[in-house]
Amino acid sequence: MAPRVLVSDELSETAVQIFRDRGVEVDFQPKLGKDKDKLAEIIGKYDGLAIRSATKATEKIIEATDGLSLMEVIRDDGVDELLALCGGCCSCATCHVYIDQDQDARLPPMSEDESDLLDSSSHREDSSRLSCQITIDDRLDGLRVTIAPED
Ligand code: FES
Repeated sequence: MAPRVLVSDELSETAVQIFRDRGVEVDFQPKLGKDKDKLAEIIGKYDGLAIRSATKATEKIIEATDGLSLMEVIRDDGVDELLALCGGCCSCATCHVYIDQDQDARLPPMSEDESDLLDSSSHREDSSRLSCQITIDDRLDGLRVTIAPED
């Protein structure tokens, strides 16, 4: 049985379609997020909840930990603009970031899957990467990253 996700916020149709393209059943109820009681009442019927952050990203230096993915480091630092809906299994593209161009030579090469997934973003640029596909190590000290706009 396909996993079911409740989208209780105004996610874009493109973002919702990403779930559907990955075989996830989506219940799109964009107004529900404002009704906390109703949301609490029904959330147990779903495998996941997708919401949109109202917070805006600002440049921030994050102390990274070796072995984690860049996505995990950003998320664990409380930057909630990075949705990372699939949890890092390279299937949603909601962990899309831009890497400063003079620094991208230090990154691991991009896989075909990552490139295909980035093609689904209307915000793809030469500096685009999926942050869940980048493992942090010493070579990446000082890496500067910008979170891409949500599709
Ligand atoms: S978290 Fe889904 S592709 Fe990176």
